[in-house]
Amino acid sequence: GNNSMNAKLVLLGDMGTGKSSLVLRFVKGQFLEFQESTIGAAFFSQTLAVSDATVKLEIWDTAGQERYHSLAPMYYRGAAAAIIVYDICRMESFERAKKWVQELQKQGNPNMVTALAGNKCDLADKREVLTEEAQAYAEENGLFFMETSAKAAINVNDIFYEIAKRLPHA
Ligand code: GTP
Ligand code: MG
Repeated sequence: GNNSMNAKLVLLGDMGTGKSSLVLRFVKGQFLEFQESTIGAAFFSQTLAVSDATVKLEIWDTAGQERYHSLAPMYYRGAAAAIIVYDICRMESFERAKKWVQELQKQGNPNMVTALAGNKCDLADKREVLTEEAQAYAEENGLFFMETSAKAAINVNDIFYEIAKRLPHA
């Protein structure tokens, strides 16, 4: 494509997995050790150059606390892309990520570009979720997978860029 486009992207995942931290790293190049838990959702935008196109990502960073679950459809409805985030140090957050995958498969836009992010990969000594297990799950479910670290700035730009590349017409 020779053009510019806007695309809505939603981040989903258990509380504390690092959704806000990934967005803050991507949009502002910053990281906070004591990032506050999100209330409701937060909005950001960032423009990327992908081949000869410009993609403006309109990013909804949702709140992972269970009491906000019912709000999630407002943010994933109409989204072109989603990043489902788990914490590699917490198996429970990987199980929660699988639930999000199922929910999107049932209720989301069928053409949604979906990424699975195993965040906090800087904490390898506390790992509970094997890379191979997550990779296999992602392949079975048509997601693309990356381990990321918002703290160490590993694969953060890459995952957003990969999404932008895979969007139709981008
Ligand atoms: P909710 O808004 O409650 O859903 O949480 P969240 O998914 O937005 O997580 P948040 O970004 O608030 O991060 C939770 C905690 O994990 C914070 O203390 C962050 O500093 C920390 N954190 C986030 N990403 C990383 C990472 O890549 N590595 C490490 N070591 N800590 C991280
Ligand atoms: Mg948050």
